[in-house]
Amino acid sequence: MRYRKKQKPERRERVREELERFGREILDSEEMQRAFAQKHHTLSTVGEHTMRVAEKSLSMCHALRRLHIQTDIPAVVKGSLCHDLGILGRNEKYGSARECARRHPADSLEAAEKLIGALPEKTRDIISHHMWPVGHSKPPGSLEAAIVSAADKLAAVEDFIEGYEEKRPGILGVVHEIVNRRKESTEWKTKNG
Ligand SMILES: [Fe+2]
Ligand SMILES: [Fe+2]
Repeated sequence: MRYRKKQKPERRERVREELERFGREILDSEEMQRAFAQKHHTLSTVGEHTMRVAEKSLSMCHALRRLHIQTDIPAVVKGSLCHDLGILGRNEKYGSARECARRHPADSLEAAEKLIGALPEKTRDIISHHMWPVGHSKPPGSLEAAIVSAADKLAAVEDFIEGYEEKRPGILGVVHEIVNRRKESTEWKTKNG
């Protein structure tokens, strides 16, 4: 049984339309192809995670709009789609998970500007501060950056749960996987200092 509540078709369509309109260049990029080939959050990929973050961020923007709070949709689309581009090639770039957490937002910003050109301040804020409150990140400086940061955390949890459910459904499977991952990450940390 899937735990996730199904989104209404018209809401899904609105998200799809905004992603197409403001994010086509990023979605069609070679970087995004690589993102779907690189593992992330144990059983997901950077690409799947990215799409979750974008979808959740836009859903939050739509919910706020119903409360008459406007958000910068192009900035949210571009920022959410680029927020983890810096993670690509992680194993070659960073010596530890901690270093990756601290450095990848700046690397994502650099990769995003290389891909789509100079970005407005709000999009830069989204990418630079999406890790907050972890990874020594400064707090988001805009509503849009706070939205993407929150969506990033929600998506990370979903990356785990969806992945576990597909591989080995049921709570015992989840516990088993967590124990194994803990062992692996301890070994990895010991190996990499
Ligand atoms: Fe990130
Ligand atoms: Fe992320």
